Amino acid sequence: MIRSLCVLFCLVLAACGEDFNFVGDTWRPVSEFRIGDYAGLVKKDGVDFRILQFTDTHINTWYDSPSTLERTYSLMARAINATKPELLVLTGDNVGNFFNPVWSQQLIAFLDSFEIPYALVMGNHDGDFVQMEDGNLQRRIAELFVRGRYSLFEKGPENVSGTGNYGVNLFNRRGEVLYSLILLDSHSDYIRRDQVDWYEWYVRGVEVAAGRAVGSLAFFHIPPPEIKFIHQEMKEQGKKDEAGRSAEEAFKEPPNVQSWNAGLFSRMRELGSTSHIFFGHDHLNVLDYEYQGVHFVYGLKTGYCAYNDPDSVGAVLIVLRGETAGDMRVSVDFWYF
Ligand SMILES: [Fe+2]
Repeated sequence: MIRSLCVLFCLVLAACGEDFNFVGDTWRPVSEFRIGDYAGLVKKDGVDFRILQFTDTHINTWYDSPSTLERTYSLMARAINATKPELLVLTGDNVGNFFNPVWSQQLIAFLDSFEIPYALVMGNHDGDFVQMEDGNLQRRIAELFVRGRYSLFEKGPENVSGTGNYGVNLFNRRGEVLYSLILLDSHSDYIRRDQVDWYEWYVRGVEVAAGRAVGSLAFFHIPPPEIKFIHQEMKEQGKKDEAGRSAEEAFKEPPNVQSWNAGLFSRMRELGSTSHIFFGHDHLNVLDYEYQGVHFVYGLKTGYCAYNDPDSVGAVLIVLRGETAGDMRVSVDFWYF
């Protein structure tokens, strides 16, 4: 009863709520890059930096019961307590499907309770049912994500496609950049060409600021088109992923990849910065596969909201080791709960 009243109260607030304005900056390929414009985290000397990836938490799908939601939050809490990360990254479909403003506020409050910084990207369901007058489905949710006390989420330049194209940089205690995280909105279909250009501008900007090449991790929701080649390669050549999974074990459902290839992966290869790409979207697929020098990682479906394999839910722990940009190493571990 109390729970129902709380939900009703939040619904009223969301319905009558504020007039959300979207105010962002504009970007040009010739814009000056200032590393101080982006969130920075500091790695302690001699200590690994741990990032925990949640994906497709789907707080809270219309057909899920209250106990399903509670079990999902419980799993997330156990994952955080077990892995003790310095940063959380949620790779989309964070909420869904009905009353997303309510669920977003609840999720943000839950994440803030751990007092750990977190970054999010938009999934294809995060904007469901909250369309703005201009047709943008995600801006209202973006305004909520950005308000979290420990949230690093940024809406990104207003003239670049999508909502939530931004970066986070990891520094050592001497102020040297060690690694970058680049977060992109894959919309409900694919990453656009102007986002690829912005990605290049960010990578080159960090390199100039650091005075040397800097590695990066990329995060977005919908699998990149290259996943189809990986699937085919694993099937036809009997190859396995880094955890020894066969094609059948990694791909429990046909991959639903981005519907157009705007060239992000080829740009990544040209620039040579991104070592790992993390995504979700296909709740049953789990993978860490090195393809043309880059790791493609399907996160583990987090929790029990929306469709899932209850024997294959959890989170991915990303560990960065090293003390300078030149000696950083990344490892990926799948934590099943
Ligand atoms: Fe999803």
